[in-house]
Amino acid sequence: MAKAYRIAVVPGDGTGPEVIGEAVKVLKALASRNGFVLDLHHYDFGGERYKRTGETLPDSALDELRRFDAILLGAIGHPEVAPGILERGILLRLRFELDQYINLRPVKLYPGVYTPLRDKGPEDIDFVVVRENTEGLYCGAGGFLKKGTQDEVAVQELIATRKGVERCIRYAFDYARKRNKKKLVTMSGKTNVLTFAQDLWWRCFQEVAKEYPDIKTDYAHVDATCMWMVKNPEWFDVIVTENMFGDIITDLGAMIQGGMGIAAGGNVNPQGVSMFEPIGGSAPKYTGKNVINPLAAICAAGMMLETLGEDQAARQLENGVIEVVSKKLKSLAAGRMGYSTTEVGDMVANFASTL
Ligand code: IPM
Ligand code: MN
Repeated sequence: MAKAYRIAVVPGDGTGPEVIGEAVKVLKALASRNGFVLDLHHYDFGGERYKRTGETLPDSALDELRRFDAILLGAIGHPEVAPGILERGILLRLRFELDQYINLRPVKLYPGVYTPLRDKGPEDIDFVVVRENTEGLYCGAGGFLKKGTQDEVAVQELIATRKGVERCIRYAFDYARKRNKKKLVTMSGKTNVLTFAQDLWWRCFQEVAKEYPDIKTDYAHVDATCMWMVKNPEWFDVIVTENMFGDIITDLGAMIQGGMGIAAGGNVNPQGVSMFEPIGGSAPKYTGKNVINPLAAICAAGMMLETLGEDQAARQLENGVIEVVSKKLKSLAAGRMGYSTTEVGDMVANFASTL
């Protein structure tokens, strides 16, 4: 009997449904080519549902989602909903409750794609950021004193636990080994200022490194990491970093790999259910126009295939993407691709089924 995967699909807000539609199109083409079956279940979490019902993520949904093989997410964020409600109520809640403790963000420049870095090409820009995904400043620990007065105090705490840091660092070393490229893990931190949390990170990094004598190590402060990502991106292989640092440097990473149109990520729980998403957001101004670039969502689907163990299908998907970016698209930017969202999805599906 053909292998069947149960996938939860959460298109979400803005352009999320448009790009997820194209990712699903490509997945279906690859399923029939490679002889597996996709059992897709759609969920309507997002801004529209929140406006209608006041509900972000029902508790029952979490139990349901735990039973899927993977989750494919479009975008969360709505211009008519106050910042934080949907992000914290849906996206971060899913990451936390499903214990997706790794945010895996490949930064890879494909041939023919424009990078703002002069004199750098695909051979220079190919690394992965392993971002801790359940701790740091994202825990929501803190509060106000005397809110709204002149004496107001706001505290937002950065939490680092030995367990959370260690499992993230260990994942980065395993990943560098599996990736088998430069076999280098660079910790990006701020040990010179965050003398508690980053001290824990640094000690843990050194201890875990001893267990991986085949993997080289390096360290860069996070501000310097931004500098090197622009000046010498070829130095990196796997970067491991805490949550907020990872959030920031992966937007920079997205830009040097060609923009949000192609940047994908995975929220990974190696022992549980993982969730894959384009990292660009809901792009309200392009919504409903059939102009947004679906490649980031398609690449997220590719990461999902790899996690499911469908390596061959993942390679075919990547070949399809490379064909489209190197031979077809004028630009990766929304509205300037030379093709519509659905046309780009059609082309990738077509190439992925034949190459
Ligand atoms: C991301 C996003 C989220 C984050 C927001 C929407 C909460 O920026 O996935 O990088 O900060 O993690
Ligand atoms: Mn971000």
